[in-house]
Amino acid sequence: MKYEFSKDFLWGGATADFQYEGGTDLGGRGPLTHDFVSAGSKDRPRMLTCELADGTKKLFDVHDSLPQDAKPVFFEDFYYPAKKAVDGYHRIHEDIALMAEMGMNTYRFSICWSRIFPKGTEESPNPAGIQYYGEIIDDLLAHNMEPLITICHDEMPVYLANTYDGWMNRILIDMYVKYGKALVDAYKGKVKYWITFNEINSLSGFVRTGCKDASQMATYQCAHHMFLASALLTKYIHEVDEKAMVGAMYASSPCYPLTCKPEDVFKQLQVRRRLFYFSDVMIRGYYPSYASTLWEYFGGSIKMEENDAQILKEGKLDFYSFSCYRSTTVNVNTKLRIGNMSLDQNPYLPSTAWGWPIDPMSIRYLLNEVYDRYQVPIFIVENGMGEIDQLDENGYVNDTYRIEYLKKHFKEIRKAICLDGVKVLGYTMWGVMDLVSLGTGEMKKRYGFISVDMDDQGNGTKNRGKKESFYWMQKFLADPSILEVDEKEWII
Ligand code: BG6
Repeated sequence: MKYEFSKDFLWGGATADFQYEGGTDLGGRGPLTHDFVSAGSKDRPRMLTCELADGTKKLFDVHDSLPQDAKPVFFEDFYYPAKKAVDGYHRIHEDIALMAEMGMNTYRFSICWSRIFPKGTEESPNPAGIQYYGEIIDDLLAHNMEPLITICHDEMPVYLANTYDGWMNRILIDMYVKYGKALVDAYKGKVKYWITFNEINSLSGFVRTGCKDASQMATYQCAHHMFLASALLTKYIHEVDEKAMVGAMYASSPCYPLTCKPEDVFKQLQVRRRLFYFSDVMIRGYYPSYASTLWEYFGGSIKMEENDAQILKEGKLDFYSFSCYRSTTVNVNTKLRIGNMSLDQNPYLPSTAWGWPIDPMSIRYLLNEVYDRYQVPIFIVENGMGEIDQLDENGYVNDTYRIEYLKKHFKEIRKAICLDGVKVLGYTMWGVMDLVSLGTGEMKKRYGFISVDMDDQGNGTKNRGKKESFYWMQKFLADPSILEVDEKEWII
């Protein structure tokens, strides 16, 4: 048995447009739902800033429902991290060169919907947007890096949200498919891996769904429309580019029962279905048997049209991709909600400064759990350690904790591939260069191999630097066999 990563394994980094690019008023980009989200912190939630019909200004938690007359607006003196982000808009080619210097052979990035269709309703795409991402793709290919594209990372042009109530309206299916087709038509043959939606199982609230009603049933209805949009686009991609592979991304961090009490164990299975509900539909092509019980539990049902089942069947995904940063723990009293995160602490695990348990074995567990269920290839598109990095007197970050985190996770991935036979396409570390946190809007929660000189208020040169982990990754990618094999690794 070969106990090593294969030569064609894809190694890289990942970013999302509104956390990375900035340049919100450049290149004909239209406003995006995320633009209106203020910065928060570990203890202070991020807020969406809105104006009501009578002119009252109001802040809303990003996960909450909004009154029908609320419209996102910018408040004076508020800091909106998406506006400048970490200046990826101007620095992308410098960043690609740094990733290539590390030895990476892929980069996962998301295309900003409103750079391509500023309002979403235009008949044809914005040429400047198409050109902008086309140059990124060409640069990646010139560096022998495979582009891995997320078509929609938790966002939409705010016009679609304001005008149609976002994904609640079936018209969004047409808008999304038009957008996706414009990308595929422009880049087919150059892009092999497409991800239709990011963390589609973590939908909640206006920013992600564009819908003012953030209730569970409204969210499931939005998700139904997204399933159809994803299936239609997947079918199209298969028709026009037979080499391309399509996946969706699921927030999949494993969850464990807190105890062996049967009720806790069964609750774990139920909570896991909050995740698999989404991938069951998109990978198997039909709703799972437990779906109708779930809808009833949340007090409703889904509106479907006659042809919907056929569309889902014809647009099944080719691969499963996931984010996995941590594990979670549930007990019989854990409340059911969209997504699978529960903040119960696991007494056996240390945590990061943000309270995320560090659990390398969870990634092997997850790879097996998913592969056993679907038998399709898996792309690990988000993993990493968000920590507070300290600069030494020379401005250098000696992030040994991140190197340890990665080494341990890579070993578990190797076990899943070599011992368990899971088919894994690749790994892209989240926030390959430091970027704005999605959850808190902070900058000090840093993931990167590459540092960015910027603070929580957006101050700083935004210049890039190489951390100790950059050099470690470079060595590892030059020869993945440097990752030592522990004797214990052979014990199953
Ligand atoms: C995932 C998202 O939820 O986790 C990313 O796809 C996000 O956009 C990442 O940044 C890490 O979360 P956070 O809150 O640490 O940025």
